[in-house]
Amino acid sequence: MSDTVNRQILLAEKPSGKLGLEHFKQTSSAPPSPRDGEVLLKVRYISLDAANRAWMHGATYRSAVEANTVMAGGGIAEVVDSKASGFAPGDIVFADTGWQDYAALPAKQLTKLPRIEPLSHLLSVFGIAGLTAYFGLLDVGKPKAGETVAVSAAAGSVGSIVGQIAKIKGCRVIGIAGGKDKCNWLTGELGFDAAVDYKDGATFKALRAAAPDGIDVYFDNVGGDILEACLSLMNLRGRIACCGAISQYDGVPSAHGPRGVPGLIVVKRLIMQGFIVMDFMDQRERAIADLQGWVASGRLKVQEDIIDGLENTPRALIGLLAGENRGKRMVRL
Ligand SMILES: NC(=O)c1ccc[n+]([C@@H]2O[C@H](COP(=O)([O-])OP(=O)(O)OC[C@H]3O[C@@H](n4cnc5c(N)ncnc54)[C@H](OP(=O)(O)O)[C@@H]3O)[C@@H](O)[C@H]2O)c1
Repeated sequence: MSDTVNRQILLAEKPSGKLGLEHFKQTSSAPPSPRDGEVLLKVRYISLDAANRAWMHGATYRSAVEANTVMAGGGIAEVVDSKASGFAPGDIVFADTGWQDYAALPAKQLTKLPRIEPLSHLLSVFGIAGLTAYFGLLDVGKPKAGETVAVSAAAGSVGSIVGQIAKIKGCRVIGIAGGKDKCNWLTGELGFDAAVDYKDGATFKALRAAAPDGIDVYFDNVGGDILEACLSLMNLRGRIACCGAISQYDGVPSAHGPRGVPGLIVVKRLIMQGFIVMDFMDQRERAIADLQGWVASGRLKVQEDIIDGLENTPRALIGLLAGENRGKRMVRL
């Protein structure tokens, strides 16, 4: 390891408005040495997540990312040295590795994973994206066959899997996404019943046309105006699975949230529930078994958007927030 370099991307400064390349800087130093109870990891894939941007605002379900620290982020990594029992060189793990080539982390912060090919599936369909879609839809949204399910950020990593699982469960599925190409992909390739381009304006009108019988389950990835439009179309005893609020992450969050929420919830007896995928990890095996079965049978298509090179990670996150990606975006090192 003596001539090996550990490149790191730091958050140079917390953005007060939109995230830009100027908020990051790259440095390099020698890889860290693992201490007792730690494992040295070589990072193979870094997950790009909308939440990366939300962590810059302050503490959420995890501590905030601070200026002049390695940018936080989940990754798939290979153990190269171990001073912890239960881990050996060659093992594959998921961890908050951060945006860097190498990380030394305590064993208790690692999740050991099977070495499956392609490894990228451990971040997409069999990783946080697939599990968030699975538990958020089935355990929070609780759709029944014949019901109408709407999902926002529908061409993204979580949303594209949500819609496909809802189809597998016999639901009518409406995807909400930015742009005609993404909408055509949802209905043409992924089998959604309808797609609404929220960038085309008149989202409420288009949604009402796409959901003539109303919405029974809304899987909300975006919050803001789209949540407001879906709320108005919810059916009696509908369920809203609050997964994220990407419309509020980049820049200054809008001053007003969805209007008319309390009244609608009462009159329609809606259940609106937030969730974090980590809450369901004790049931991971059940989810992975189902997801593997659906992928193997061709009923669940895996869409990945892989970008090469650690140096491209900031650009990849900025692009994800702008809607460049289709499916799960990640950086391969
Ligand atoms: N609760 C949990 O445990 C959990 C776990 C993982 C992820 N999440 C949440 O899941 C959501 C999806 O995250 P992801 O990391 O998988 O990203 P993603 O869906 O792969 O990509 C984000 C997508 O959001 C869309 N978007 C960006 N700005 C938007 C806006 N203002 N209004 C509507 N859509 C917008 C863009 O697509 P368009 O081209 O369609 O705009 C973009 O491609 C996020 O809200 C995230 O926080 C939650």
